Amino acid sequence: MQTLVGKKILLGISGGIAAYKCAELTRRLIERGAEVQVVMTKAAKEFITPLTMQAVSGRPVSDSLLDPAAEASMSHIELAKWADLVLLAPATADLIARMSAGMGNDLLTTLVLASDAPIAVSPAMNQQMYLNVATQENIATLSRRGMMIWGPAAGEQACGDIGPGRMLEPMQLVEKCEAFFAPKPLIGKSVVITAGPTREAIDPVRYISNHSSGKMGFALALAARQLGADVTLIAGPVALTAPQGVKRVDVISAQQMYDAALEHAVTHDVFIGCAAVADYRPLSVADQKIKKTTDNDDMQISMIKNPDIIASVATLTESRPFTVGFAAETQEVEAYALDKLQRKNLDMICANDVSVEGQGFNSDSNAITVYWKGGQKPLGSATKTDLGREILLSISEHLTQA
Ligand code: PMT
Repeated sequence: MQTLVGKKILLGISGGIAAYKCAELTRRLIERGAEVQVVMTKAAKEFITPLTMQAVSGRPVSDSLLDPAAEASMSHIELAKWADLVLLAPATADLIARMSAGMGNDLLTTLVLASDAPIAVSPAMNQQMYLNVATQENIATLSRRGMMIWGPAAGEQACGDIGPGRMLEPMQLVEKCEAFFAPKPLIGKSVVITAGPTREAIDPVRYISNHSSGKMGFALALAARQLGADVTLIAGPVALTAPQGVKRVDVISAQQMYDAALEHAVTHDVFIGCAAVADYRPLSVADQKIKKTTDNDDMQISMIKNPDIIASVATLTESRPFTVGFAAETQEVEAYALDKLQRKNLDMICANDVSVEGQGFNSDSNAITVYWKGGQKPLGSATKTDLGREILLSISEHLTQA
């Protein structure tokens, strides 16, 4: 693969034992035609010398925010703009925490803030530090912001512990870089995605909804954009920021989502229904707040079925997009997913078991198997960001075959 020729990679090294692997990593990247500019934190220099990194990269190492000579040759802002990819390897728990907090208290964190290049984070630390809830939340925050999380691997650690926290091997990171710079298969394609929950009003202050956070749908939007597509995101009420370059349409109820989806589906090549749409809504919405009564402990709300958005898109006779649904199941995941694939006339369905803690609704990770007529592909469990990319790559393969 020649994908790294001429690519500018800013390699940010923080202070962990895996830093010694960065000399090998740099050599392999350069061998494949990349230009590598190394930036080191103060602690990183305790594990591998700047001289070594300068020798293998062929460039002076940057390590200080307040170095007048370095600023004169290439300021930190120029450096941030120079990169096609920022690769943070190894990324220690401390570096991850500082980035999560948005700090800029050394050259590396300042560059991360100042760069609009894609950022890949390769965590490396003791397994207990990695599993610590603070680290997990920080990694989830970075992933949500669109940073790619590469690794860690599990196994024996330098400290003697066994578990997750080993930095990926240099060649694995090189492969990740190559895959990242590989051609963008969705250039020229347009994708519309529904995300988040819907809210079905009962009265002016109450509604029926569900636990969808929108994270899976927003991750799909990010992935589709990164793979080159024009993306429209129809979002239910969620507290998320749309990825850069994505057109966002906000809706509240299933009916509003239906209207927006049907309007946009006919002008897009792909429709992905990731939203957790309420199947039913209250038959009537009270004009005023419903008052509690003293004479009756029961309350009944009559419900009526909402339109099935994805089934309506999939039965379009003209300008029908490639239609991908989701199946959120708590049992018999495969059987129910296959049933929905057929019954709703979908081209593909992404099945997730939402009964497993830490995946599905309102989590940063998920586990997905993709099904289509006559085939399936288990994508395993990963961050929603990484799964979003895998799902879009699967869709793109099907578009090419069609
Ligand atoms: O938002 P997150 O917190 O990240 O959680 C992600 C998720 C669990 C919501 C997501 O991964 C997921 O599974 N989304 C689909 C949820 C759902 O409603 O599944 P379902 O099995 O009930 O519906 C099947 C398909 O029909 C879905 O594509 C759904 O969007 C669609 N549908 C359902 C009802 C309806 N009235 N109209 C629809 O289009």
